[in-house]
Parts: sequence; C-alpha cells; structure tokens
Amino acid sequence: MKLVIGNLKMNLNQKEIEEYIAFFKNKKYSHAFFAPTYIYLKEFVDNGLNTVSQDISPYSKGAYTGDVSANQLKSMGINYSIVGHSERRKNYADGMLVNEKLKRLLENDINPILCIGEAFEERNNNTYLNVIKEEIDEAFKNIDTNKLKCVIIAYEPIWSISTSGTGIVPTNEQISEISSFIKDYVQDKYSYTPKVLYGGSVNNINVDTLEEIGNIDGYLVGGCSLKIKEFNELIEKVK
Ligand code: PGA
Repeated sequence: MKLVIGNLKMNLNQKEIEEYIAFFKNKKYSHAFFAPTYIYLKEFVDNGLNTVSQDISPYSKGAYTGDVSANQLKSMGINYSIVGHSERRKNYADGMLVNEKLKRLLENDINPILCIGEAFEERNNNTYLNVIKEEIDEAFKNIDTNKLKCVIIAYEPIWSISTSGTGIVPTNEQISEISSFIKDYVQDKYSYTPKVLYGGSVNNINVDTLEEIGNIDGYLVGGCSLKIKEFNELIEKVK
C-alpha cells in the first residue's frame, strides 16, 4: 500500500481545521496520513485519522520550553513523525539534531519519516548522490540496525518544494534513480529496504504522471494538502 502524507505545516486555524477533519474523518482512508501542527494533533487522533507529528524534541523530557517529546506524542496515540524536514534544517539548523531526534522516536516506537534531499547547486554539480548518502549516514549514526527497519525515507529535493524551492518537479526518471539509489544504499549498509516517498510540489494533477514511477512508496504533500477537494482527489488517485 502506498502512503499519502499531508504536511499541513503552520497552516489552518481552528475553524478551518474543524472543517478539514469533518471532511476527512468520514472517508476512512487507510493510506492517507495527516501532519498538522502540534496543537491540532489530538483532534486528528480523536477523530480516527492517521496522525503524524511534524517534528520532535531531540531531548527525552525536562526543562526544554516549547519542545514536545516523543514520549508525549506516543502517549496520545501518535505513531508517526516527520524528522529532518528541509525547512527545519534551514530555519533552525536542525541538521545537527536529526540523529538525536531519530533516536528519541525509535526509543518510543514511533515510525520516523526522515526527509532528505539535495539543493539545486548540488543537483547541478552532480554531488547529489553524495548528499543523499551523507544525510542518511548522519541520521542513522550509532543506531542499532535492527531498530532502523521502521524508518521511512522521504526524498524531497529542496529545489522542488513549492514554497521554499522552485516548485519544479523532477522527472520520473530522476525520482526513480534516487529511490533505487536510497533503497540499495540502505539495504547494503543498514540491512533493510526502506519505503521511499517522494515530496516536492505533488498535486492532484501531476500525481497522474508520478504514479507511473514503479519504485516509490507514496508521497509527502505540502501545499496541495491544504485544499480539501484537491487533496482528496490526489488521495483517491494513489493506488
Ligand atoms: P510542497 O511541500 O508539496 O508544498 O512542495 C512538500 C513538503 O515540504 O513536505
């Protein structure tokens, strides 16, 4: 089963979230997941939607004002969390923390959705495969390979993200190359074949073309996930 994960980022107010939940809770899609900001997580869980956190504290508990711990998420029924999103890496220098965050998620049996992806210059100067390797190795450092098996990888080239990049979607061949590369690299080095999602300007129209890629396991969707009708159409197209 392919996954479709809507990353709502810091969007939608209380009223808009209520409309959003009211629509999707009746659909009962098993392959659709929703990542709202922390303050709305409980409403998604309580309405039976597959709920994903957008991030997580690198610390376990204690005096970390503004943070939310993996244990707190788990105790309210959250089983998935995004980690290492490029916006966090860029805005908060989160790259350094991804390894610790991954450890906290795994200690609490939360499935991480690890975001990786190259910048435009790295694509153009052909260093992108090294960037992918380095991001995986940095994230997986000093973690028992048995524990890594539940880590899902989201390939999100920074240049293709609609708001922070150019909005240009890579070709199916480019996405397929990276997906195979990630699956082979992780299998060789960490002994499991991860699910690989594609993210970056995916919408209800271009998903028709993306669905022709044979070796990806779903999508991480930002902008389009904010529009109920469009996102619903996208979810229904993904098989
Ligand atoms: P986008 O965002 O679909 O708006 O490009 C994807 C993401 O940042 O996860």
